[in-house]
Amino acid sequence: MSIEKFIEKYGPWDAHSIEYTPGKFTIGSKATSEWIKKRAEVFACLVDFFVDKPFNECRILDVGCFEGGITYHIGKFGAEVIGLEIRDALLGRCSFLNECFPDLKIQFVKGDMLKLEELDLGEFDAILLAGTLYHVDAPAIIPMLKTLQKMTPILIIDTHIADRICERYDDLPTNTILYGRSMLEHNEPDDSDTKSKRLRSSHQNNFSFWPTEISLTNALSASGFTSTFKALAPTLEVNSQDRQIWVACVHNLLVPELRDLRRSEPDKRPAVHAIFQNANQQNACNPNTKPI
Ligand SMILES: C[S@@+](CC[C@H](N)C(=O)[O-])C[C@H]1O[C@@H](n2cnc3c(N)ncnc32)[C@H](O)[C@@H]1O
Repeated sequence: MSIEKFIEKYGPWDAHSIEYTPGKFTIGSKATSEWIKKRAEVFACLVDFFVDKPFNECRILDVGCFEGGITYHIGKFGAEVIGLEIRDALLGRCSFLNECFPDLKIQFVKGDMLKLEELDLGEFDAILLAGTLYHVDAPAIIPMLKTLQKMTPILIIDTHIADRICERYDDLPTNTILYGRSMLEHNEPDDSDTKSKRLRSSHQNNFSFWPTEISLTNALSASGFTSTFKALAPTLEVNSQDRQIWVACVHNLLVPELRDLRRSEPDKRPAVHAIFQNANQQNACNPNTKPI
């Protein structure tokens, strides 16, 4: 089927620009297509670093895959990649990639990331949560992370986090407090059909909750991940400081009790250590540097 037929049936591509045949792109031109490729490459490098097996033997899940651009670009490195998506219009566009690239081990599955346990997708070497965790509401965050932890030892999270604390949510089963802020995804009277047309939003929940970095770390620990790292290089510089990449892992800690450590929040420590708060030290005039 031609791209025009896909567009007629599923709507025009909205964000993932892919070169589906030499010189032809789902959106714009080569320049437009670079961003999704670069994002996928950074995620692929992280998977390759953290997973102890050849990349082309890896099984990876891309949760909330949108138009399948990340699934496709990671699939080009030879891994088996499953893109999970809830919206039919997006899954339709994803199926265009299967048609254009039949030799890749990419597959697209319809499903709700909040009900992963019902999908029976099996185990993965790594799971990617790119642009999806910030669409989850507070009560669902830890349950979803717990399910993911049972499915993979490596979780790569590309998400916005709260830049300040406005609210808290008490996750009673794990005795974890999540601090952060809420975002409006849909309005109270919106019906399911209206919600499904907002392609970049949550599936049904009207609110999403963005934890702070400390709360995200604690939520991952409470969900069974033993270590969490922040990807500083290689990484992606998006157009706001509140979005970064973290990698959560499950492995045998040398000191197993450390898995029970939690970071304290709100963080009441002074920004600068007391011994460096002397005004003469702080206003040092260093001949080696230029003042800004
Ligand atoms: C902001 S887009 C991110 C797309 C893509 N992962 C990326 O990083 O470019 C959020 C995606 O999550 C999907 N999504 C939202 N809620 C979902 C749910 N409950 N289950 C599955 N997918 C969901 C949306 O349909 C959309 O494709």
